[in-house]
Amino acid sequence: MSTDRTEEQTVAYTVADGIAWVRFNRPEKRNAMSPALNRQMMRVLDALEFRDDVGVLVLTGEGSSWTAGMDLKEYFRETEAQGLAGTRQAQRESYGWWRRLRWYQKPTIAMVNGWCFGGGYGPLFACDLAFAAEEARFGLSEINWGILPGGGASKVAVELLSFRRAMYHALMGENIDGKTAAEWGLVNEALPAQRLQERVTEVAKVLLQKNPVALKATKDAIRRVREMSYDNAEDFLVRAQEAANSFDNEGRKEGIRQFIDEKTYKPGLGAYDKSKQGQA
Ligand code: ACO
Repeated sequence: MSTDRTEEQTVAYTVADGIAWVRFNRPEKRNAMSPALNRQMMRVLDALEFRDDVGVLVLTGEGSSWTAGMDLKEYFRETEAQGLAGTRQAQRESYGWWRRLRWYQKPTIAMVNGWCFGGGYGPLFACDLAFAAEEARFGLSEINWGILPGGGASKVAVELLSFRRAMYHALMGENIDGKTAAEWGLVNEALPAQRLQERVTEVAKVLLQKNPVALKATKDAIRRVREMSYDNAEDFLVRAQEAANSFDNEGRKEGIRQFIDEKTYKPGLGAYDKSKQGQA
């Protein structure tokens, strides 16, 4: 370890009002992802995933960075020095928590407060939604130091950007700001830095009102159908809804009841009142 930070201190988190605020916490290294940080992030995700007081997880960064990507010294140079086993271990640890996040039980939001480079595109894509400060900077800087955008970054670029933009972004190694990232579809919205947390909180609060089984089924469906033919997607979605019904068969009935019988809300304008579920 080249910093004084313990492994446990590489990730910080607080839970308040149903939202887990998880922070990359190596600001002195611009939150670069070291093997220690990758291991700790997996532990934190594990600890939060099924907590009843966590309905939404927000991933953000301490200091001026979201994350400056992989730690060039600790993740690349030092693990390579350990041979193939060291390299593969480090890859497994980072790819592992990104995969975990892609299929997380709760909806996830990337709150990109600053620099977001290279390997950072893995967790950026893993989060279901993304909001950035206009001042944030995004870049596939790999080309600038002599590698291709690996660890999924090339895949993320073509998933989220048009072919021409992905190619330009990856070949040129230039940064784009939050506003451009929103225009290009890398994030949902860009806001002035001082409004970022307020907006993310607003979005999280809306999500917290929704049926949690429907949220998990929906976020998985949107990811899964990307790579399916129409017919396969149609079939998958029938089965996915039936599987969701086995976890919560009453929610959608209650949603229909409050609209049709009680006339207390309109699904076109917002969510039904979950607190009444099981009372009628
Ligand atoms: N890996 C290792 N150390 C890093 C990284 C990184 N990715 N990013 C920053 N640091 C360290 C610096 O070495 C420096 O350490 P030191 O204080 O011990 O000298 C410290 O963090 C602060 O960095 P500065 O460069 O001084 O910070 P500054 O605010 O001037 O610049 C910037 C920020 C632009 C993010 C710059 O640090 C940078 O270019 N970092 C590398 C970004 C990058 O290309 N990441 C790899 C992407 S490719 C991939 O992830 C596979």
